[in-house]
Amino acid sequence: MGGAIARGLVKGSVFKAADIICTACSAETLEKMRAVSPDFTLTHDNKAAARAADIIILAVKPWRIEEVTEEIRSSLDFNRHVIVSVAAGITFDQLHTFLTKNMECDGITPSPVVFRIMPNTAIAVSSSMTFVSARNASPEQTKLIVDMFNESGNAMLIEERLMGAGTALASCGIAFALRYIRAAVEGGVELGFYPKEAQEIVAHTVKGAVELLLANKSNPEAEIDKVTTPGGITIKGLNEMELSGFTSSVIRGLKACK
Ligand SMILES: NC(=O)c1ccc[n+]([C@@H]2O[C@H](COP(=O)([O-])OP(=O)(O)OC[C@H]3O[C@@H](n4cnc5c(N)ncnc54)[C@H](OP(=O)(O)O)[C@@H]3O)[C@@H](O)[C@H]2O)c1
Repeated sequence: MGGAIARGLVKGSVFKAADIICTACSAETLEKMRAVSPDFTLTHDNKAAARAADIIILAVKPWRIEEVTEEIRSSLDFNRHVIVSVAAGITFDQLHTFLTKNMECDGITPSPVVFRIMPNTAIAVSSSMTFVSARNASPEQTKLIVDMFNESGNAMLIEERLMGAGTALASCGIAFALRYIRAAVEGGVELGFYPKEAQEIVAHTVKGAVELLLANKSNPEAEIDKVTTPGGITIKGLNEMELSGFTSSVIRGLKACK
């Protein structure tokens, strides 16, 4: 995920590769980043990277966040640093506790600027639906982080309480959309197409449906109405799918993974 974010950032206009420092445990991962851009600064030294950066993106597994924040804490300057966590399920309260451990002075704990972001796997092709939540951030800092992730697809600012719902809809949602595609491909084979042809047909049909919605800013039902001739075959197909629980299955699946 960290690599995908860096790849997205260099394609955009907010940062240049020379502005980006990548850290990892293995030389192999850093070599992969070297292949993306020779201008990245690559290091295994998280503390030095944190000291040199203004924005620190924590993109390790959730159970590693505490250990990494412990490692870089002495390098943090909360007047300057903006911390961005990609870790799923690690809350602002937890991040605050990890970042400010033993930093209480005269009963006052510092208030670091922290963002939580939740991209999906389509960030690898700059088409992520990314959620952003902010704590202690100014409007300018928030705009910068939203702009950063708009360059890798589409970014939306939400309250932290909606992160779980956003994850279900957009991160798990990629799998749900793909499962529809798989089902339609299997149906296409039954109707007489070879699997490769069926996949090409379904992928482009779904892409067309999405582009219609985005271009027309319309409601899905309005686009469906344009296809459903009274007494025609589309409405017969839709009604058959609904009889098998199509809409309720999708809603139940979304609610189950929240
Ligand atoms: N994958 C997704 O779809 C997705 C979606 C949304 C959010 N997320 C979040 O993104 C985060 C990363 O997930 P991932 O799937 O990208 O994990 P990953 O493939 O395991 O990558 C983690 C990276 O962190 C590096 N790393 C581990 N410990 C480190 C340390 N102490 N210092 C510096 N680098 C260290 C690893 O380096 P090496 O390669 O050298 O071991 C690796 O490159 C997770 O918190 C996850 O919740 C993931």
